[in-house]
Amino acid sequence: MAKKVFLSEEEMPKKWYNIQADMPTPVLPLINPGTGQPIPLDQFARIFPMSLVEQEVSKERWIDIPDEVLSAYTIWRPTPLCRAYNFEKLLNAPVKIYYKNEGGSPAGSHKTNTAVPQAFYHKMSGVKRIVSETGAGQWGSAMAFAGNLFGIQVKVYMVRVSYEQKPYRRLMMMTWGADCVASPTNTTEACRRVLAVDPNSPGSIAIAVSEALEEMASRDGTKRTVGSVLNYVMLHQTVMGLEAQKQMDKIGEYPDVVIGCAGAGSNLAGLSFPFVRDKIAGKKILIIAAEPSSCPTLTRGRFAYDSSSSEKGITLLPMHTLGHDFIPSPIHAGGLRFHGMAPLVSQLVLDGLIEPRSYHNLETFQAGVMWARSEGFIPAPETNHAIAAVIEVARQAKEEGKEKTILFNWTGHGLLDLAAYDDYLSGRLTDYALPQEEIERSLASIDGYPKPPRR
Ligand SMILES: Cc1ncc(COP(=O)(O)O)c(C=O)c1O
Repeated sequence: MAKKVFLSEEEMPKKWYNIQADMPTPVLPLINPGTGQPIPLDQFARIFPMSLVEQEVSKERWIDIPDEVLSAYTIWRPTPLCRAYNFEKLLNAPVKIYYKNEGGSPAGSHKTNTAVPQAFYHKMSGVKRIVSETGAGQWGSAMAFAGNLFGIQVKVYMVRVSYEQKPYRRLMMMTWGADCVASPTNTTEACRRVLAVDPNSPGSIAIAVSEALEEMASRDGTKRTVGSVLNYVMLHQTVMGLEAQKQMDKIGEYPDVVIGCAGAGSNLAGLSFPFVRDKIAGKKILIIAAEPSSCPTLTRGRFAYDSSSSEKGITLLPMHTLGHDFIPSPIHAGGLRFHGMAPLVSQLVLDGLIEPRSYHNLETFQAGVMWARSEGFIPAPETNHAIAAVIEVARQAKEEGKEKTILFNWTGHGLLDLAAYDDYLSGRLTDYALPQEEIERSLASIDGYPKPPRR
């Protein structure tokens, strides 16, 4: 049996899949915190191009991928579907393990799948400058790459702890012509409020979002892009799941289990939504969202309206949240340290279509090292969470004596995360048992917000 299944460029999907056409419970709208009413589309259009606003609320099942985006995708797509024979042998369990290798994109992860269309739509609407935020630096580098492709100037606010852990991410962004600053920066009102409370703040994605939003509001001709959370980001990422379905079809396979790590939901959504569609139609399939125990948004957070930024915000999202004041412990999976979750993923968790599970820091690095020593590729720390879930599913299959076909998202390489591996290999890495009081304290920040209806 082949180790890799390829698609030709002609076989690449020409449309994205929009799960909003098939959800048993429609996703709740984003609302204004003052009025509790849905945000009017023209208000969104002040931040995002109309084509993205339309995708955000569309109920059309299939949405055309523009030719310019398809052409840019061919720089690294279609990505291979690979079988992890050596890892299977290591686990010695009755499982076949397939993974979609997204680590070969120019920026090194799945984030380019949406950075490119976002840059394209902004370019079409005449935008010349974009600000955005990044946790681990994967999104920032994807945006820097995509901005350069379409001639747009990019500035990225990178969470300080990651900025310090990963200087080469900043250099990648600069190589593509973007500007990257450590957040909190001391240049915005939002960060000055944070620094007044904690002058040594390690930063958070929420704080970086606030800074990007403030700069956008204060500078003419500057717009913002987002690396996850919003519906249109999930939509763009479905190119991965659609490719995977074609690839599995080619070899007569279908997964019993689909796994993605969960930061704010985009890689999980992108790989799994075409399979969630099958599940809604009656297929038996387990879909797992693997998140860090130290930032357990889906497993210990509350489904509520909350802001994605650290400020009170003008837009509230219906999502699982730990509260926008939550400052996650500086574990090395920067891309998973977000207090909230994509509303589409949250709704599918509420409906029992996606199952969240959490994993401790050390077991995820152990999983990543096992992977590197058997399959060769060194995974990003975020990806290690999905691998830890694969191991758990394989162990269970062994205990139950059941055969399982697993498909997971190998979201990115860890070649710029070697400092994290150094910490793990030298015994400096620890687990963090997040106390319940810490969650309660940060959830107090959403006390005054409107509550979503019981669903
Ligand atoms: C390699 C990698 N995987 C996963 C994630 C998590 O993001 P999401 O949940 O949006 O896929 C990130 C975020 O930066 C990432 O860099």
